[in-house]
Amino acid sequence: MAEPPLLNTYGRLPIMFDHGRGPWLFDTEGRRYFDTFSGIAVCGLGHSHPAISAAIRQQSEKLLHCSNLFHTRVQHQLARELCDLSGMDGVFLANSGAEANEAAIKLARLYGHNRGKKSPTIIVMEGSFHGRTLATLTATGNHKVQTGFAPLVSGFIHVPFNDLASIEALAANNPDITAVLLEPVQGEGGVVPADADWLRGVRAMCDRHNWLMMLDEVQTGNGRSGRFFAYQHFDILPDVVTTAKGLGNGFPIGACLARGEAARTFQPGHHGSTFGGNALACAAALAVLATLRQDKLMERASDLGARIMSQLKTAFAGTHYIRDIRGLGLMIGIEMNSGCPELVPLAKTQGLLLNVTSQNVIRLLPPLTLSDDEADYMVEQVVKVIKLYAGDDRLEPRVPPSPDNEMTRH
Ligand SMILES: Cc1ncc(COP(=O)(O)O)c(C=O)c1O
Repeated sequence: MAEPPLLNTYGRLPIMFDHGRGPWLFDTEGRRYFDTFSGIAVCGLGHSHPAISAAIRQQSEKLLHCSNLFHTRVQHQLARELCDLSGMDGVFLANSGAEANEAAIKLARLYGHNRGKKSPTIIVMEGSFHGRTLATLTATGNHKVQTGFAPLVSGFIHVPFNDLASIEALAANNPDITAVLLEPVQGEGGVVPADADWLRGVRAMCDRHNWLMMLDEVQTGNGRSGRFFAYQHFDILPDVVTTAKGLGNGFPIGACLARGEAARTFQPGHHGSTFGGNALACAAALAVLATLRQDKLMERASDLGARIMSQLKTAFAGTHYIRDIRGLGLMIGIEMNSGCPELVPLAKTQGLLLNVTSQNVIRLLPPLTLSDDEADYMVEQVVKVIKLYAGDDRLEPRVPPSPDNEMTRH
């Protein structure tokens, strides 16, 4: 494959994709691959979902963009639906997860300044991931993401995830704290769910100190956890919540939602985006929300997640190379005892696309639209490849795709 003139920001596998359908991606040679992580939690309805393609097609024939100096019906409708789904009062529409988080960070600073804080400071978590812009990489609790980009942005303090005492200690002697930002399940950090008691404790502490509780649901949102937002499992309401990824099923869109005083903080001129909330992105997101509702996909994510998790636990019971299997809904982490980057190219040879995060956690983020048969197939293949990698099993040779193979014809 010839080297493309792209800046060298990603280590890519040498596969050239041509099209996708459901959980399958097809390369230019006609080979198919099962995508276990939906383009990193983006294509939650599977690749090329017909309802999303139709919505994009129809909207593209009417209006793509008219700037945020005017109103569009689709933007109003999306804002209303997102607020109804989340319990928030208003939304800022952006184009990505990092941008949604930038909006939340700016909102928290302004909220702090409005309350007379000299240097508004946000408590963030070790092991977190919030994006690659300067503020969001500073908020991220991973030195690898930050290395080389000093000077970082001031106004963030990292504390251990799931540890209330550290936050309590800061509350006692830092009057500049204005917000806490966290992921309900740390995704890039290795699929680490927050403890329910800790989340409720953070909520109570934010209430006590008038801090904003801000949740980054860029990855956990849009039904993946089994509820529209993961916080809805825990009986808490944040002040600010951000999302992106699955909201457009591949069409770029992000959202920063807020309620109460947080929702009244931004005034004209404080924040903006040329493309954010354009008609095409809103139409794609509305089609995603309609499909989630019509096909009861949040319930499905919950049931499928339980089924997949239990199958994995049975398959790996008693093995020495798996440390833990955990997750929420269709966000599942299989933690191995040691780093396993070679698993990804090995899986590729078997027609399986795997994602390994945090060195040793295989992160499954399949589409919410998987049939039972597809889910069983995925588990079978994942187990087979991990066992092969760990030297625990003999591998059946892969059946090469042929034009006569029903599953390869698309
Ligand atoms: C929790 C979380 N926040 C923010 C981001 C950044 O999103 P984007 O890549 O769309 O900027 C990601 C991306 O992986 C994420 O998982």
